[in-house]
Amino acid sequence: APTSAFIAGLPKAELHLHLEGTLEPDLKLALAQRNGIELDQKTVAEVQATYEFNDLASFLAVYYPAMEVLRTEQDFYDLATAYLRRAADQGVRHAEMFFDPQAHTSRGVPFADVVNGYHRATVDARAELGISSSLILCFLRDMSAESAAQTFEEAVPFLDLIVGVGLDSDERDNPPRKFADTFTRARELGLKLTMHCDIDQVGSIEHIRQVIEEIGVDRIDHGTNIVEDPSLVDVVRERGIGLTSCPVSNSFVTSDMKADEIVQLLHDGVKIMINSDDPAYFGAYVAGNYDALVEKAGLSLDDVVRLAKNSFEASWLDDEAKAGYL
Ligand code: HPA
Ligand code: ZN
Repeated sequence: APTSAFIAGLPKAELHLHLEGTLEPDLKLALAQRNGIELDQKTVAEVQATYEFNDLASFLAVYYPAMEVLRTEQDFYDLATAYLRRAADQGVRHAEMFFDPQAHTSRGVPFADVVNGYHRATVDARAELGISSSLILCFLRDMSAESAAQTFEEAVPFLDLIVGVGLDSDERDNPPRKFADTFTRARELGLKLTMHCDIDQVGSIEHIRQVIEEIGVDRIDHGTNIVEDPSLVDVVRERGIGLTSCPVSNSFVTSDMKADEIVQLLHDGVKIMINSDDPAYFGAYVAGNYDALVEKAGLSLDDVVRLAKNSFEASWLDDEAKAGYL
C-alpha cells in the first residue's frame, strides 16, 4: 500500500482549494491583532472551537464571518503565502486556487487589494518555492446574478491575473443556470469555467446536467453524484472534464467521504483527483486527503499515481508544462 511518505513525495496539482479556507487559527489571531480587530476568541484553541459544523450551511456560517480579519493587500498576500508553503511541503507543484471577492468587496475591501495580494503571493512562491499557481475567481451563488455580473466587470481590468471563474457557496435554490450569462461572458474573454456541484445537495444531478449541457464547463468541483447517471459519466469521460474531489471535506459536509464513488469514477477512466477544499477548517491539506482515502478505500499504488496524474491532466497548465509532469 502507498505510504504517507510516498504520497507526500509524489508531484501533485491541487485544483480545488479556497484560499479563504486556508485561514489557520494562528494567522486569524495575528491578522486580528495587526488590524486592531477585537475577536471573541483569544487563543488558537478558542478559534479552533468555533470550527464546528456538520453540513454545508453550518460550515459556511463559520467560514464567512472568519474573513473579517482580512483587510489589506498584505493580509491576502500572507494568507496565500502560508498556504503555498504548506502545499509545497506536501508535494504540490501546481495549484489553481479559488478566491471569493464578493466576501470582501461586500465589506468594503477593494477588489484590487484582494487580487493583487493573492497574485503577488503566486509570483513570490514561484520564485522562492518553485511552485506554480493561478487564481480562479468564484462567484457566491447565494448572491444575485447581477452581483456576479458586476463583480466580473470589476475583474475585467485584472484578467491577466485570473485563469478561470468558478461558483461556490450555498447551492440550495441556486442552480448553475442562474449564472449562465456571466459564465458565457467569461468564456468569451478566454477564461476557463468550473462550478461547484456539491455533494448530495437538493437537485445535485440536475445541477451536474446543467453545468455539462447548458454551461459547458471545463471542470466540475465535487460532482460525485454523477454516478447516479451513467450517461453523464460517459460524457465527462469522453470530453475529459475533470472532477475535483475532496474526501475529507465530504466527510464533514455529508458524514461520508464518498470513497466508493471516487474509486468507481477513477476506475471508469474519469479524470478525478484529490484536493483539500478548505484545509484549515477540515484539518487536512492535500496529502492528508490522499492518506484518508487510502485508509478508507484501500487504494493501490497505481490508483494513487493515477490520481496524481489526473491532477495535472485536468489542470489548466499549458500542454508543455503538463508534459513535464506526465
Ligand atoms: N462548497 C461550497 N462553497 C464553498 C466550499 C464548498 O466546498 N468551500 C468554500 N466555499
Ligand atoms: Zn469547494
